[in-house]
Amino acid sequence: MRQLLLLLLTASVSSAAEVLVDDVPLPVDPEALMSVPEIILHWGYPVESHNVVTADGYVLTLHRIPHGRNETAESARNTSRPVVFLQHGLMCSSSMWVLNLPHQSAGFVFADAGYDVWMGNSRGNIYSRRHLRMTEESDNFWRFTWQQMAEHDLPASIDGVLKATNQSYVYYVGHSQGALSMFAKQAVDPAFAPKIRQLFALAPVARLAHTQGAFTYLGKMYDQAKGLLALFGDGQFLRNNLLTRILADLLCDSTLSNPLCTNLIFSISGPDSHQFNNTRVPIYLAHNPAGTSIRNMVHFAQMVHNKRFAPYDLGKDVNMKLYGAPFAPEYDVSQVASPTYLFYSDADWLASPEDVEGFLMRRLNSTVLRVATRLTDFNHNDFMWGLRARKEIYDPIDNIIRQDVRRQEIRYVLSAKDGKASQSIKVLYNKKSQSKNRRMKRIIVKKVVHSSINSQSAASLERAKMKRDEEKS
Ligand SMILES: *[C@@H]1O[C@H](CO)[C@@H](O)[C@H](O)[C@H]1NC(C)=O
Ligand SMILES: *[C@@H]1O[C@H](CO)[C@@H](O)[C@H](O)[C@H]1NC(C)=O
Ligand SMILES: *[C@@H]1O[C@H](CO)[C@@H](O)[C@H](O)[C@H]1NC(C)=O
Ligand SMILES: *[C@@H]1O[C@H](CO)[C@@H](O)[C@H](O)[C@H]1NC(C)=O
Ligand SMILES: *[C@@H]1O[C@H](CO)[C@@H](O)[C@H](O)[C@H]1NC(C)=O
Repeated sequence: MRQLLLLLLTASVSSAAEVLVDDVPLPVDPEALMSVPEIILHWGYPVESHNVVTADGYVLTLHRIPHGRNETAESARNTSRPVVFLQHGLMCSSSMWVLNLPHQSAGFVFADAGYDVWMGNSRGNIYSRRHLRMTEESDNFWRFTWQQMAEHDLPASIDGVLKATNQSYVYYVGHSQGALSMFAKQAVDPAFAPKIRQLFALAPVARLAHTQGAFTYLGKMYDQAKGLLALFGDGQFLRNNLLTRILADLLCDSTLSNPLCTNLIFSISGPDSHQFNNTRVPIYLAHNPAGTSIRNMVHFAQMVHNKRFAPYDLGKDVNMKLYGAPFAPEYDVSQVASPTYLFYSDADWLASPEDVEGFLMRRLNSTVLRVATRLTDFNHNDFMWGLRARKEIYDPIDNIIRQDVRRQEIRYVLSAKDGKASQSIKVLYNKKSQSKNRRMKRIIVKKVVHSSINSQSAASLERAKMKRDEEKS
């Protein structure tokens, strides 16, 4: 079996598009054939694409939805909006946040709730395949893992957003590898934490000691995978291919002929969702996998094999020289300093409750870990495509950010005496949560902190929410 997998992994090449056309005899929604900016325009939202360059020369594309459908560019310009930054997981792209209907997709939900939405694209995916000095044909282009995404992609992306928006921090939402890389970044770079006002980690992976699905095989195949890298060097991880089909046969009941089973993303993260809109499955298949490096996959295989949350393992000899130990030291999760909110689930093959509760929740500083929400029956992809995701994840995140903005707002009002600011606090006190705000005010009066957030953000979020509440009633 293992030899067979190795053989197939090395032998097969075929493109995602072909497999999609051959294997999925389903009616296809138009978004399947659109790029992310096209999808955003298709639903009537404004979109911008921004390039940022990493310290090691990769050109990454950020996609932005500057405001919701019911605002004009002018009304949006008049208000300062808190930034929500969305970072995708392994082998995915910014598309993952916009593939459902607007009222279900994180990208659109946050834009309509009054935020300035930015979506990152990690090096190597289809939107971030340029480099100042190399082409994607070069093996060296693919010489990276999530370790470099943490080290270089995150600061380039976040700093780019802060510069473009003139804000001093973002609210960060990371799925899977998007959460992992943020933990790794903050573990080694405490100066980065203040740029992340709050960290929302969805299906957060860190230590992978209890995976199910293709990753378990990947961990078992680690020695071969390592050999493969040694033999063939770096390159793009193959997209849909025979390996995928073999894994599908292993993991799926072939009598069901679930089209998800032919896609590697789903062999890794679990094909069985109890909350997918099945009509939209062809769209998920068309946009995923969006590409990564073989080396990144080998890094994940290492993590499963070694059960450690550590930098890429370069082998005993190099480790001895670099670290004076046979293994690289694990990332110190206790150094994460942004207030952190975890969303995880018992049905997740990758971010298993055993690993989230047994590793992350134990190691995160207890003053930093604010809330850990254990959801029922979310598989790894349901965090972005499940029909319950909005109600159980995005709306709660919106409320947490809103409270934080309100707190900032009160501090701002108490520390600045200009008329504009005190006007906007009236908006807050008119709301139902008046008594709660008073309590908060009493607490905060003791410790007035000046904040850079524009006093209008809270008011504009409040307006967006009131509008939605009105529409609901
Ligand atoms: C935008 O406004 C239209 C018309 O008033 C309404 O039907 C729609 O639900 C609103 N959408 C959002 C996201 O607020
Ligand atoms: C934007 O702000 C200006 C100046 O405060 C105001 O005159 C204008 O009416 C505002 N526009 C909108 C669309 O709110
Ligand atoms: C950026 O924000 C600072 C204060 O936070 C303000 O003084 C400055 O004018 C702003 N610049 C722009 C271009 O809006
Ligand atoms: C499922 O997707 C289809 C087609 O994209 C859409 O028409 C339908 O409203 C969606 N159903 C739900 C429950 O979201
Ligand atoms: C946790 O964070 C608090 C506040 O930043 C700090 O004082 C404390 O030393 C941290 N604890 C550990 C174990 O790092």
